[in-house]
Amino acid sequence: MRLSAILMNTSAKIEYYSRFSPSPLSIKQFLEFGRDNACEKTSYMFLRKELPVRLANTMREVNLLPDKLLSQPSVRLVQKWYMQSFLELLEYENRSPDDPHALNDFLEILIEIRNRHNDVVPTMAQGVIEYKEKFGFDPFSTSNIQYFLDRFYTNRISFRMLINQHTLLFGNDTNPAHPKHIGSIDPACNVADVVNDAYEMAKMLCEQYYPTAPALNIKEFNAKAPEKPIQAVYVPSHLFHMLFELFKNAMRATVEHHGENKELPLVKAKVTLGKEDLSVKISDRGGGVPLRKIDRLFNYTYSTAPTPSLNSKRVPLAGFGHGLPISRLYARYFQGDLQLYSMEGVGTDAVIYLKALSSESFERLPVFNKSAWRHYQGGPGADDWSNPSKEPRDASKYKAKR
Ligand SMILES: Nc1ncnc2c1ncn2[C@@H]1O[C@H](COP(=O)(O)OP(=O)(O)OP(=O)(O)O)[C@@H](O)[C@H]1O
Ligand SMILES: [Mg+2]
Repeated sequence: MRLSAILMNTSAKIEYYSRFSPSPLSIKQFLEFGRDNACEKTSYMFLRKELPVRLANTMREVNLLPDKLLSQPSVRLVQKWYMQSFLELLEYENRSPDDPHALNDFLEILIEIRNRHNDVVPTMAQGVIEYKEKFGFDPFSTSNIQYFLDRFYTNRISFRMLINQHTLLFGNDTNPAHPKHIGSIDPACNVADVVNDAYEMAKMLCEQYYPTAPALNIKEFNAKAPEKPIQAVYVPSHLFHMLFELFKNAMRATVEHHGENKELPLVKAKVTLGKEDLSVKISDRGGGVPLRKIDRLFNYTYSTAPTPSLNSKRVPLAGFGHGLPISRLYARYFQGDLQLYSMEGVGTDAVIYLKALSSESFERLPVFNKSAWRHYQGGPGADDWSNPSKEPRDASKYKAKR
């Protein structure tokens, strides 16, 4: 086939698969499938359609970004990876699961795809920085890019979740340290243990930057079964990711606010379980953030730390501005949330909310449809609240006659 024919055929396929909405799964479904009736052929039949659907939905949406952003080399590279993975998955469109090599080849290709997409986040972030440096940011493109990245990264989290479940259940890369895990899910994840692990890891990093780090105090309130430790049916690596980011932030704020050589106030963690929510609060006395700035902290690229060098061997403590927004995506991915409550001058509480029941933890996935499309089209609306810096204006002619 000539190249132009292949390209036309591919864009017709992207268009075709993007017309399907992704099928969200709950943690309970992931678990039951993996525990009771893990069947590689069933998983294969599901994924060979669902993965191209999820890829195509996000690939259509990438095309709605501003042209100047799309032409940045890093963004092009990311697009190339997506295209290649999409084409590789299409090879299985009509391949029977009874073909003696199909299941094994599919497993290998999934691992290759996962590795290819390892660096999507820093590469995309690089593209956004390049764009910002060359063209600056107006409020409209900032809000579109924010909207896009939230959806794009959520799509990626979900894509990796599906791939990991399949490769862990049916491949050779099962983790011998966690024989009870079902793929990447721990059916009895001790939340306080993950809090501790994340704290220890952040502390180690903090001590590479400062001579000291604040100590930790953990409390548990199990309202369902008061004497029992709080357990979640959850993906421990997701929980660890969120907590590690919150601890890094809390530690940096605490040391910067009090000074390296002073005695530091504790960072406190509170783990609670109710009927609906399992919550984890991380509280610091790091001086807090004014209310005016709180929303901004969730913007990709917002950071008060100097941008770390991408080539540096040292893991940075802060600086990409991705810690909070990506952690919030992990929380929201299974219908939870992450919120910050700060009291300027004193400190910050960051709360992770998870669903207490795995049957309610359904994947929250972006869908490419008319209303998503419309989001990229409209210009910034006129402000419909008063602006304190403007002179009073005669608005009598706009007011309804009474
Ligand atoms: N607990 C906190 N107390 C005070 N300021 C905070 C706290 N958490 C976050 N911030 C502020 O929010 C900004 C954004 O946080 P975020 O974690 O998203 O990015 P970062 O820490 O700068 O970089 P990284 O991507 O490495 O995490 C921080 O730079 C800091 O100014
Ligand atoms: Mg951070």
